[in-house]
Amino acid sequence: MDDDGGNPMIEFAFHDLDYIPFGYGGTTAPYIETSGGTMRAAATLMCLGGDKVALTAGQEAATTVVCDLGCGDVIGLLSHINGLTKSISTANGVGIDYNAELINTAGINSKAAGVNAEWLIYDFNNDLDDLVDQLITTHQVTHVFIYLVPKQLALETVRNILTKLARSGVVLCCHKFFPLYLKPARRDVLMDLVVYDETSCEVVVSVALET
Ligand SMILES: C[S@@+](CC[C@H](N)C(=O)[O-])C[C@H]1O[C@@H](n2cnc3c(N)ncnc32)[C@H](O)[C@@H]1O
Repeated sequence: MDDDGGNPMIEFAFHDLDYIPFGYGGTTAPYIETSGGTMRAAATLMCLGGDKVALTAGQEAATTVVCDLGCGDVIGLLSHINGLTKSISTANGVGIDYNAELINTAGINSKAAGVNAEWLIYDFNNDLDDLVDQLITTHQVTHVFIYLVPKQLALETVRNILTKLARSGVVLCCHKFFPLYLKPARRDVLMDLVVYDETSCEVVVSVALET
């Protein structure tokens, strides 16, 4: 028996790279709301939650924009990060999903939670409108949380997005499944989290040969 116990829903999960219904978790196709503990550990690993001194200085929180590539985990992250700072400035967020219903619910939940987040309906598998440019130039995103299956992480479009973000200095934090093309900068093995930054991209050094 495989790791998913032969659950027939697994086929739905990989049909057209979609996800299985909310509440199910497996090693090949997750769709479960990420736990508060994971969110706290992700914030710490991204140096957003564990360093109260940096946050109380105000500067860091004011310039922090956290994005969730796949909807609403940004709410938990922002609640946690902003709960740590004693300054009046707060971190902001951007949540992205191609599922309009999820985006709508996340918008309602973010208002209820009192966090400042923008919500984009966008398909990053196709990336028809240069997501990296939108995130960096328009939204000034500094940190991105990612919980996507390996098949999706391996897509050329997703690979380009993650690589360009890391190369631009955006800190990425992947949960459970990890892009093989980026070199981990830091890990939390217990919580299944890996952080990537600008040191994660392979630099090809070309040496000019003298004749
Ligand atoms: C494993 S869930 C992540 C859980 C999520 N971070 C949360 O808030 O609970 C993956 C999410 O990515 C979204 N997603 C999957 N493929 C996508 C795509 N190509 N473009 C945009 N969103 C996508 C799904 O709709 C789903 O909400």
